[in-house]
Amino acid sequence: MLKDKRIVLGVCGGIAAYKAADLVSKLQQAGALVDVILTERATEFVTPLTFAALSHRRVYANLWEPSGEAAARHIELGQSADLLLVAPATANTLARLAQGMADDMLTAVALACPAPLLLAPAMESHMYAHAATQANLRTLVERGATIVPPETGHLASGEVGVGRFPETATLLAYVRRVLGRGGDLAGRRVVVTAGGTQEPLDPVRYIGNRSSGLMGFALAEEARDRGAEVLLIAGATTATEPEPVGIELRRVGTTLELRAAVRAAVREAVVGVDALVMAAAVADYRVEQPAAQKIKKGSAAENADGSLTLRLVTNPDILAELATDERAAGVVRVGFAAETTEVAKNAASKLERKQLDLLVANDVAKAGSGFGTETNEVAIFHRDGRVEQLALLPKAEVAAAIWDRVVPLLRARETRP
Ligand code: PMT
Repeated sequence: MLKDKRIVLGVCGGIAAYKAADLVSKLQQAGALVDVILTERATEFVTPLTFAALSHRRVYANLWEPSGEAAARHIELGQSADLLLVAPATANTLARLAQGMADDMLTAVALACPAPLLLAPAMESHMYAHAATQANLRTLVERGATIVPPETGHLASGEVGVGRFPETATLLAYVRRVLGRGGDLAGRRVVVTAGGTQEPLDPVRYIGNRSSGLMGFALAEEARDRGAEVLLIAGATTATEPEPVGIELRRVGTTLELRAAVRAAVREAVVGVDALVMAAAVADYRVEQPAAQKIKKGSAAENADGSLTLRLVTNPDILAELATDERAAGVVRVGFAAETTEVAKNAASKLERKQLDLLVANDVAKAGSGFGTETNEVAIFHRDGRVEQLALLPKAEVAAAIWDRVVPLLRARETRP
């Protein structure tokens, strides 16, 4: 989604200016066209050459450069931008932006720029907390700017406090979210499930599965990047991804907890849910009577031969239940099927039994596909019998392909008499 997007990046004179180099590199690698503007003070921390080398484009640092090019281009740069990002944004530049000043290249471009404004303040904590800085931020937010909240941690001053420049991954998530506001899921509310459920045996042990959560998180992030309001209900996840930005995250443990959270979201929501995509790996069985204390060797729970018998009972099928639930009628429902044999046969039967709009089948026995991998190879089963086999793709691309198929279903529901 960043391909060919025109991003004007203003870099201000703070110690975090050097971290903006990594941001430019990642944006450029993702296909964005990044025009960097350094404030005069930023050039004392970093050089224009660093950013020119990383962006593969000329860098602006002086509105009054003798060639006159910067002065001539400041309107065009602002007008053609898809996003104006200021990172790091110092207290001084925030004040000048809030005042509408135009005394350097960055502020002049900002005044000529109708694109969304994304600000990543980074400064010493007392400067950030000052009433003047907070008032300037409020003014900018009232005018439509989005703020990336600074993180708390060690600051260049030696103190620990709020004001740290966020990680590149967090900034990229904000960029994608702001750019995606007008996407094909704008105005939609979607629920995605991710990760695996865990069924306790006793207070220290559980029956679980190998889900990392990557597939579900990719689906949630892709929906956010297309403008959707996203609720992500996640069981146990092994991936160490940062908390997703701009996504409501609810954590659950057992299948019954997942069921309660999904039902609350889909059936009892004040604002209706448009789509439910269940990528979570859900335990079909739970221990009937989990032990209140840790099960010990040689305890009364053991059989005479030293073995242990656990009685498992069936968990409710969350998706199947919703199929006949009037309060979930109209919600586009997408399931996954994790199969190791007879993938097509099992997938088609799950689509039918759970009355799904789409079923995404992954052969989890294949290398690079299914649990814990960065990639997935899926086949998408439609209600009309069509089956689309996709290539082995990064999970972000699988997620995009799934939403590409959900969008027409949402539109079709709207036009239905
Ligand atoms: O998390 P990752 O490491 O990225 O791995 C991704 C994945 C392999 C977990 C994912 O792609 C996947 O296949 N998820 C579904 C796993 C699963 O539970 O499959 P199933 O065939 O048992 O269930 C079919 C569908 O019914 C699923 O959408 C499941 O969420 C749902 N279900 C299952 C059981 C149950 N009691 N209630 C349900 O609603």
